[in-house]
Amino acid sequence: MRWYDQSGRHLPWRNLRNPYAIWLSEVILQQTRVDQGLKYWERFLRELPTVQHLASAPESHIKGLWSGLGYYRRADLLHRGAKQIVTDGWPKGYKAWLGVPGIGPYTAAALASIVDGEVVPALDGNAYRVYSRVADWSEPIESSQSKAFIYSFALGHLHPKRPGDFNQAVMDLAQAICTPKKPKCSECPLHDSCAARRAGTAELLPVKSRKLKVVNQDMHFAVPRRGHLFGLIQRPLGGIWSGLYTLPELATVPPEFTPQILEHRLSHRRLKLHFYSEFAGSSEPEIWLTYEEWSARGMPQAFVHWLTNFPYI
Ligand code: ADE
Ligand code: SF4
Repeated sequence: MRWYDQSGRHLPWRNLRNPYAIWLSEVILQQTRVDQGLKYWERFLRELPTVQHLASAPESHIKGLWSGLGYYRRADLLHRGAKQIVTDGWPKGYKAWLGVPGIGPYTAAALASIVDGEVVPALDGNAYRVYSRVADWSEPIESSQSKAFIYSFALGHLHPKRPGDFNQAVMDLAQAICTPKKPKCSECPLHDSCAARRAGTAELLPVKSRKLKVVNQDMHFAVPRRGHLFGLIQRPLGGIWSGLYTLPELATVPPEFTPQILEHRLSHRRLKLHFYSEFAGSSEPEIWLTYEEWSARGMPQAFVHWLTNFPYI
């Protein structure tokens, strides 16, 4: 949010609380880039300043204002939407916005969050790109599993008091920083928390199909021990070993220790795992578990593999 307040785009409808102006902006931006759509939005508002004006405007006037935007069916839907709103009043909330002609799930979520403050993620291709990277989510993005995951991941990250601003911040981030090719991770406000940035997989995400390049990845682990207990941390949701317990991962290699090295293959990663059995790490683990307790919570195969090769139980 701090990034958005300082570096987000300054778009005129963002300072307004007028649902008509905001609805119009979202409908226009469904098929037009912001810089081009802006002129159309201004002209619409100048000539048809309220939803009543739009509803009662002749077809030809609307077509004229829309001219150049293409997809004229959308102009008809806008007109029908205006008539419905004049009759029924402004929609309140995601479900109600979905009932307006011309409004699909993405636009309904954008409008519900911006106009009504409803905590609902607006997910288009750009938002999917950002969220799949932040979570390092490498399942094919079209799958229903991916959709369910990204939805709940996004929902869990939405700002509870500023959901509309948060959704628009994601749009701006996708446009300016988290671009499809060569994302500008070093300038990104999510640099430290983004799992794909840490794993080096950002540019490979989101995954479009099952055909994947295998990526090589080095991972380094401290080995905190107290007798039979292992000091563990819970992995962030979405990334590799999402939500499971593992040894604490080290961001930097401790040069004075020699690791045990293990190759481990995941579906599309070739991991080279480095275990620093003499090094307990520099921060306190979240939890201490015996081998059995760790197994009972779901020990990733790579760690079973490690303990089979280098038994420390
Ligand atoms: N694209 C669609 N809606 C948008 C918005 N509110 N801000 C920026 N880009 C958008
Ligand atoms: Fe995207 Fe990089 Fe930012 Fe992650 S750190 S959200 S990959 S720009």
